[in-house]
Amino acid sequence: MKYNFDEVIDRTGNRSAKYDERNKKFGTYDVIPLWVADMDFRTAQPIIDACEQKAREGIWGYTSRPESYFQAVQNWEVRRNGWKQDTELMSWSLGVVPAMNAIVRLFSEPEDKVLIQTPVYPEFYEIVEHSGRQVAENQLVESEGRWQIDFDDFARKAKECRIFLLCSPHNPIGRVWTKEELTKMAEICIENDVLIVSDEIHSDLIFNGCRHIPTASLSEQIAKHVITCISATKTFNLAGLQASTTIFPDYEMKERFDRFWSSMDIHRNNAFSSVAMEAAYNSGEEWLEQLLEYLQGNFDYVCDFCEKWIPQIRVNRPDATYLMWLDCRELHMSDEELRDFFIHKAGLGLNEGRAFCRTLSGYMRLNAACPRSTLEKAMHQLKDAVDGLPL
Ligand SMILES: Cc1ncc(COP(=O)(O)O)c(C=O)c1O
Repeated sequence: MKYNFDEVIDRTGNRSAKYDERNKKFGTYDVIPLWVADMDFRTAQPIIDACEQKAREGIWGYTSRPESYFQAVQNWEVRRNGWKQDTELMSWSLGVVPAMNAIVRLFSEPEDKVLIQTPVYPEFYEIVEHSGRQVAENQLVESEGRWQIDFDDFARKAKECRIFLLCSPHNPIGRVWTKEELTKMAEICIENDVLIVSDEIHSDLIFNGCRHIPTASLSEQIAKHVITCISATKTFNLAGLQASTTIFPDYEMKERFDRFWSSMDIHRNNAFSSVAMEAAYNSGEEWLEQLLEYLQGNFDYVCDFCEKWIPQIRVNRPDATYLMWLDCRELHMSDEELRDFFIHKAGLGLNEGRAFCRTLSGYMRLNAACPRSTLEKAMHQLKDAVDGLPL
């Protein structure tokens, strides 16, 4: 089946946080929302069909977590990444962020340090801070337009840390970490007895011939130190169904995690989530391949447009995710001025770079998962706003 990603879908009444919470986030509804990581595309038809069938059943009582779901996850990882995991080591959770929150609380002590690589998805800071642990930042460095790991700093910080929250692939800089980079990070962590929590939620959204390598697939020895968090929610635009899978290195760790959720009486998911995720993993590939092609076109469009018309804004072409990291430092604005400029002059709702790294100024994050016409409108608004700046 051929999907039409050009279709502009009116999300009024869709209870979409991306649209409905614009006023709360930007102080106005009058912005094109290019912020929170959800897509303005309808998901794959087999997922819609499966949910429609579930809706027609008309009984949505307490829902089991069938083995067929874990089997679907296992098959997906084998097909996409050549990584076979024991379904007995998989747990279900309400999302990657809730899972990582639980992991930090269970596998470290209050005041322990947790390593993160900034700029990074802001919840990484929050997961650490809300659980009373301390953030240790290994800031990524940009060299010749490519973001890299400062390994000396990583090794120094790892010595003091209990857990490393790895974002692989990385949001917001769109890096797919290489085997060498992953291995080096993992070896440093093992030397220092640091548990690696590998958030691989963006691992299906890969471009430019790159290949995602699950951290736990690097070697048997490394796998013993890695908890992996994955979900079909980012890939297939199902975040509102709130579900994810966590894969543990051993049964004891998995049981500790499961007991944590049971102690809060959270041992089920909503009735639609397993149905949708299973359909996604079993029958979503055709849609995904077309999505990736469309997103690649969106990245090309934004990169080419900025290069030609707004050279003051340097765009990072992502190898993964549908998020683009914009270097706006040449606009010479403070972070507050940049925020106001995007909202009030360009009419665009983007994420402020400052949320991803508290010591980095002058960046914004753009969500490119929308119809091309929306991006074209957004880019023209941005160009007009930049053209209107005093020389
Ligand atoms: C790196 C990363 N991890 C986790 C999440 C959210 O995961 P969940 O909705 O499953 O909690 C996001 C959402 O944007 C993300 O970018």
